[in-house]
Amino acid sequence: MARVLSGVQPTGDPHIGNYLGAWIRWAREQQPEHFFCIVDLHAITMPHDPEQLRDRTVDVACWLYACGLDPALSALFVQSQVREHAELAWVLNCVATMGELHRMTQFKEKSQGRESVSVGLFDYPVLQAADILLYHAEEVPVGADQQQHVELTRDIAQRFNSRYGETLTLPKATFPTAGARIMDLQLVDKKMSKSLGTAGAILLGDTEAQTRKKIMRAVTDSGSEVRAAPDKPGITNLLDLMAAVTGASTQDLEDHFSGTRYGDFKAEVAEAVNGVVRPVRDRHAELASDLGAVHESLAKGADRAREVAAGTMTAVRERVGFLT
Ligand code: TYM
Repeated sequence: MARVLSGVQPTGDPHIGNYLGAWIRWAREQQPEHFFCIVDLHAITMPHDPEQLRDRTVDVACWLYACGLDPALSALFVQSQVREHAELAWVLNCVATMGELHRMTQFKEKSQGRESVSVGLFDYPVLQAADILLYHAEEVPVGADQQQHVELTRDIAQRFNSRYGETLTLPKATFPTAGARIMDLQLVDKKMSKSLGTAGAILLGDTEAQTRKKIMRAVTDSGSEVRAAPDKPGITNLLDLMAAVTGASTQDLEDHFSGTRYGDFKAEVAEAVNGVVRPVRDRHAELASDLGAVHESLAKGADRAREVAAGTMTAVRERVGFLT
């Protein structure tokens, strides 16, 4: 069984892209050596409200447990509670280059049009590399938007190893067959995201009626065929969503919906999405009403994470020449 680490930012409300791109696999495939991190250090790279950050950190934990993460199996923890993340990030800062960070598309997107950009935002991918490398993760289950960051992590690890001797494990990103990049329902050329606004994003916390309405209003394409094609981004996205929630192949779905009108197709997609999200939303509500248990599980997760992270840091410190 491969060692796994993945992470999520406690910013904005979780949406169906997070669930289908990453979380559903975290829960399905979890093992004792799998680590999942709520990355609050990453969340402060952009302007934020401290009180809201604390609330969202706990809320995203509720969502992850609601999706099926089991504290008796995998370890879910909060990044800032394991100090080694910041420590390894500093060491890796001295291995990563300005040139490779300048090439990161997420930095370009997030910094665009901003007058003042934090050094932390520029350095974001190095901290992400530290998250992954601390746990010797072989696999990183993520959505397609994270591929470039995981590739950078490999490059940094490789450079560290060739400079200081074999220490860090080279990870690879893994993606779902369907749902690796769910697009916004209104702006179909943009990935669904917490920052785009909620009209085109299906939030896990939406009511069933809200979800149905958003899907029924999703931008579709000219023509009337339910078929995945480059000139049909709206329908392609809904088919991908349907494939991800049902497990059916796009081909099977195209056959199933052959001759179906867009409106009827969308109604079926809405029903399927609601069917999958309903139990998660119910469980989230239960967990949110007893936060004591959630805090306790996070604390245990952090203890387990610290143990592994401390072992890696001992090796790293020794390799780079720090006094032990
Ligand atoms: P974040 O918080 O933006 O997203 C969490 C996970 O959800 C996936 N995702 C999507 N998948 C499919 N379609 C979408 N529209 C969509 N939107 C989001 C993301 O790919 C991700 O898997 N940099 C990371 C957090 C991070 C991390 C890590 C990830 C920090 N350290 C170490 C992996 C390993 C991020 O901002 O994810």
